[in-house]
Amino acid sequence: MNTIAVLGAGKIGEVMLSGLLRAGWPVGRLIATARRPERGRELAERYGVRVLSNEAALAEADVFAIAVKPQDAGTLMAELGPKVPAGKLVISLCAGLPTAFFAKYLPQGTPVVRVMTNTPALVDEAMTAISAGEHATAAHLALAEELFTPLGRTLRVPESQQDAVTALSGSGPAYFYYLVEAMTDAGILLGLPRQVAHDLIVQTAIGSAVMLRESGEHPVKLREAVTSPAGTTISAIRELENHRVRAALLAALEAARDRAQEIAADAR
Ligand SMILES: NC(=O)c1ccc[n+]([C@@H]2O[C@H](COP(=O)([O-])OP(=O)(O)OC[C@H]3O[C@@H](n4cnc5c(N)ncnc54)[C@H](OP(=O)(O)O)[C@@H]3O)[C@@H](O)[C@H]2O)c1
Repeated sequence: MNTIAVLGAGKIGEVMLSGLLRAGWPVGRLIATARRPERGRELAERYGVRVLSNEAALAEADVFAIAVKPQDAGTLMAELGPKVPAGKLVISLCAGLPTAFFAKYLPQGTPVVRVMTNTPALVDEAMTAISAGEHATAAHLALAEELFTPLGRTLRVPESQQDAVTALSGSGPAYFYYLVEAMTDAGILLGLPRQVAHDLIVQTAIGSAVMLRESGEHPVKLREAVTSPAGTTISAIRELENHRVRAALLAALEAARDRAQEIAADAR
């Protein structure tokens, strides 16, 4: 069994560590690194994982998951990249950064897999998209899947689609939280107590998501079942169309995709 080192275990690195532990990954096979000693102590206390320096982690682990912010990846890779031992796998969780960015710092032939997961990994409901870099084989992709499948669903995509994935499912939870927040406000406008509005919309979101997943139906069909002629729902839909909510979503995701590309350009 491989030893996994999460380099830069912040929010998403912690999500990965906790998910692997829930899935039964032996704690002795997990290593975390942190920039601040207090963050390291927090991780060691919370999960019992070994917290090492980046350099020490290099000597111990077989797989390196890079979980620093994209703007910190260059510094980390300049320090560690050339020292990564031959045959080890590098998995990047960084938004925007292509596998070629990491390859620049790594010994020739080091396999790199690019992964975009999301925060519902905390409840084992992540959506993780996995792409192979130049030297990553089917076995490396399978290993990445082994690490992320316990956290939710995984999907293989060509690396060229990863910026779109980042915009859609990487940032996706934020859009749903935004929607829930706005709909809770709408409930308050209609006279409901905040907690009641919150409970109503959270359960409605869960129910709708489960129906989408379990029925496999097209969302239009599911929506039509709630949209009776001259009824209440179509009055609301008309307002959503008047306010160009669909166009706003198209523009919003395009902006997120463009930002991922800017991040990559800045990191070079
Ligand atoms: N959050 C999300 O929803 C999400 C989703 C998908 C992908 N991602 C990707 O995941 C990556 C991390 O995001 P995040 O939200 O988890 O950020 P974060 O909470 O800031 O985590 C990054 C961690 O790396 C540490 N760090 C930075 N440089 C380091 C170094 N040289 N050595 C060791 N540790 C170092 C940081 O330390 P300090 O605490 O000192 O800053 C921080 O604890 C990003 O590239 C992001 O694109 C995030």
